[in-house]
Amino acid sequence: MKSLIIYYSYTGNTGKVAEILKGILSQKGQAEIHRLKPTDESNNFFVQAAGAFTGKRAKLPEEWLDLSGYDLVCLGTPVWAFAPTPAINTYLDKCRNLDGKDAICFVTYASGAGVKRCVNTMIEKLKQKGAFKISSFNIQQGKVGDAEFVEQGIKEALEMFSV
Ligand SMILES: Cc1cc2nc3c(=O)[nH]c(=O)nc-3n(C[C@H](O)[C@H](O)[C@H](O)COP(=O)(O)O)c2cc1C
Repeated sequence: MKSLIIYYSYTGNTGKVAEILKGILSQKGQAEIHRLKPTDESNNFFVQAAGAFTGKRAKLPEEWLDLSGYDLVCLGTPVWAFAPTPAINTYLDKCRNLDGKDAICFVTYASGAGVKRCVNTMIEKLKQKGAFKISSFNIQQGKVGDAEFVEQGIKEALEMFSV
């Protein structure tokens, strides 16, 4: 099985989860991981929150958009203002050849407000892009350093697939 993990992380929490996911998927085949780095990233909380809330798209290098070589595509983001980050929005707009692929979306969050809305927004977009089976998991920011806890969440999300 060949997997791709694409994630955005501003302060590193989602990155930690993505690395643990990579560890698990590497045991099941090949796993590639890439961090999205927008060229127009703001460091201002209010600009970040307003952008996410209004569905802003970030400027991203045109990289890792062709998904044709993968069996499983995993997309990770922090929840920002009940929504995915602008970087993930852009990636979801631009990625190609997702038809018939399995997909996982994963998020990290603080209070938990908007987790469901954020994940549903991503799932909706993945469906529009033709993804076949879609699973998800979420990890509270205080738990991202607890590898066992994160692994459990990942294993539950993977149960839907025959991997
Ligand atoms: C601009 C902004 C908006 C946020 N909005 C939410 C939110 O709506 N709900 C929530 O539970 N956490 C929210 N958070 C907290 C982040 O989702 C959480 O800290 C996450 O783990 C950060 O991931 P990262 O370290 O990968 O960037 C927000 C954080 C930022 C910076």
